[in-house]
Amino acid sequence: MTDPIVVVGIGADGWDGLSASARRAIEGADVVMGSGRQLALIPESPALRVDWPSPLVPALPGLFEQHHDRRVCVLASGDPMFHGIGVTLVDLLGAERVRVISHPSSATLACARLGWAAHETPVVSLVNRPVDTLLPALGDHTRLLVLSRDEHTPAAAAELLTKHGFGLSRLTVLGELGGPDESRLDGTASAWSHEPGARLNVVAIDCRADSGTLRLTRMPGLPDVVFTGDGQMTKHEIRALTLCALAPAAGELLWDVGGGSGTVAIEWMRTHPLCRAVTFERSAARADQIESNASALGVPSLPVFGDAPAAFEDVPPELSTPDAIFVGGGVTQDGLLEECWSRLRLGGRMVANAVTAESEALLLQWFSKCGGQLRKFQVYRGEPLGGFTAWRPQLPVAQWSVTKQSKGDAA
Ligand SMILES: C[S@@+](CC[C@H](N)C(=O)[O-])C[C@H]1O[C@@H](n2cnc3c(N)ncnc32)[C@H](O)[C@@H]1O
Repeated sequence: MTDPIVVVGIGADGWDGLSASARRAIEGADVVMGSGRQLALIPESPALRVDWPSPLVPALPGLFEQHHDRRVCVLASGDPMFHGIGVTLVDLLGAERVRVISHPSSATLACARLGWAAHETPVVSLVNRPVDTLLPALGDHTRLLVLSRDEHTPAAAAELLTKHGFGLSRLTVLGELGGPDESRLDGTASAWSHEPGARLNVVAIDCRADSGTLRLTRMPGLPDVVFTGDGQMTKHEIRALTLCALAPAAGELLWDVGGGSGTVAIEWMRTHPLCRAVTFERSAARADQIESNASALGVPSLPVFGDAPAAFEDVPPELSTPDAIFVGGGVTQDGLLEECWSRLRLGGRMVANAVTAESEALLLQWFSKCGGQLRKFQVYRGEPLGGFTAWRPQLPVAQWSVTKQSKGDAA
């Protein structure tokens, strides 16, 4: 049996900070792989050193094949299983082929410096993601850590916070954590004027909302005004009920058919950082509006495809088996509900909303065939009428929601 690949976490304090077992794993290896920076942290040895090629991930299978009969040790920054190469290697080779020797992560060290409870501090990685990804995590008096892409991330985060009504937030940039050149910069977002410092850094944010900043939590039912566009959207109250019926959970994938302004997919993704979604929108102008709303609300990775059901074919395999489907437009389009139903995974949920009599009639037929729940919602909003307040009715919405038990049946 071939030896497992040993992944050793190493900090900025290098060899001095390693445990005896981590040192033995490095010293016993025939091949040591890592970035040039990491390889420079360990003493000279007869082992072959492999500096990571770029791009790394596509090169990994070939590299391990090449050295399959040798003892391989991989160096990782901090905790290998925390946003690290350990996760990539387990995905690639399987957990039984990988032995991980842990080290404190940058987030653990940051919490130690700040006196923050690690188990109460959310961490957002901006290493490979746009800075907007930070937005769903913001809230008044919330504390969080940001794993930076580089030395420019702190200023980008400060600018984003200021633009979105969190200019009073306190920022602490911790550079080269655990190393001899460890550094710390403090300031508030709106007055951030530090020059870029350490390339390796973590930003600690103690969020403070300006007075008047809209409260945008992860709870579905955001105010309609935060979505721009031509008004084609599932409105606040019905949206909250729709997301409730869709019941998002961490890691699940939603297809939002008839995306409009993207509200349902955006709110689905905001409920948990691991929630993924895909939208289908036939109007090019609305597809653009979905993209800009997704960025403005912190889920810039939301992809938009065209006319359903034809565009179902364009979806890449990793996004092609949804856990839930919402049909907010195109209910009466030929074959659309059939195609949605056949692509939904067994045990997945489908929710369809109808405003017109024709689409409502179709939902009734599907309910007779497959079961599930039928509901009709009527919302009144109190609005000014002269000097008084009147109940202004919104269009009533019929909703069919169902769980797919088998290809034919539902419940
Ligand atoms: C009522 S809006 C949906 C609103 C959306 N849930 C939201 O909150 O923003 C219906 C949308 O479905 C789109 N649509 C209708 N039929 C479609 C189809 N077959 N494929 C893709 N989009 C479609 C329309 O262009 C429109 O933007």
